[in-house]
Amino acid sequence: KRLSIVGVPMDLGQMRRGVDMGPSAMRYADAVKRLERLGYNVEDLGDIDIDLIDDDKNVPPSLRNLKAITKAALKLADCVDSIIKKDSFPLVLGGDHSIAIGSLAGVAKHFRNLGVIWYDAHGDLNTDETSPSGNIHGMPLAASLGFGHSELTGVGGFHPKVKPENIVIIGARELDQGERDLIKEQCIKVYTMHEIDRLGMTRVMEETIDYLKHRTDGVHLSLDLDGLDPHDAPGVGTPVLGGISYRESHLAMEMLAESEIITSAEFVEVNPILDEKNKTAEVAVALMGSLFGEKLL
Ligand code: ARG
Ligand code: MN
Ligand code: MN
Ligand code: MN
Repeated sequence: KRLSIVGVPMDLGQMRRGVDMGPSAMRYADAVKRLERLGYNVEDLGDIDIDLIDDDKNVPPSLRNLKAITKAALKLADCVDSIIKKDSFPLVLGGDHSIAIGSLAGVAKHFRNLGVIWYDAHGDLNTDETSPSGNIHGMPLAASLGFGHSELTGVGGFHPKVKPENIVIIGARELDQGERDLIKEQCIKVYTMHEIDRLGMTRVMEETIDYLKHRTDGVHLSLDLDGLDPHDAPGVGTPVLGGISYRESHLAMEMLAESEIITSAEFVEVNPILDEKNKTAEVAVALMGSLFGEKLL
């Protein structure tokens, strides 16, 4: 069992500085040791270099830091690609959620029918035309579907990275109008907080696993820590009340571990500057434990 960790100290996909320190915070919370204890051969590849490219003159404010984000996405895609080529499991540490454009570009080369679980308060389904903020961390899932600016959709030289019917969004509770329209138009499967409250996390995960198992040949977990309730994960840039609990999240990860469907993962939006004593990074690492098979007995 091999596992390769790569950090992406990216904070350019949104306006709050500090999320570039997410990888350090998760390493400080002992991510490597935790996974080694589970019997994995863990290599930490360190961080991708983020070049600050001053592109504000050429790029509209609806795509803030487009050049730098695209460049980082290309590097990350190559890195993830080479991890899979050497038969290791890619575990990406963010960084804001814009990095998912690169993760998915790297992973998608290896699967004909990639599945994606988007664990998030948000849909991240905006394009430069629908985004209320111009922040690219609100666009990665749209870009991976082939919607949005061609520099974002074209990372890796092909699109889409994932088909709409292979996506499951879990934890949504704040969607912009353009995102709602895209979800309906593309028939994307979404478990909002309403469904999680109503069905319970057990049933949500049973359905998710069953749905993806039969139609995909690999599943990428993209876990935005703001999917959890800010009470449990306060160190995020765009917190939304009424989120998934710590316990429910562990259950979800444990069920994914049991299902053995996950072939790559990323943990994003940990911002230690906004955190309380590194609590959110610790939650992220604890969830990694469950995702990779940690059990009490
Ligand atoms: N929907 C909002 C926007 O597009 C918020 C996005 C938050 N995304 C995230 N990865 N935390 O600006
Ligand atoms: Mn910075
Ligand atoms: Mn989010
Ligand atoms: Mn997100």
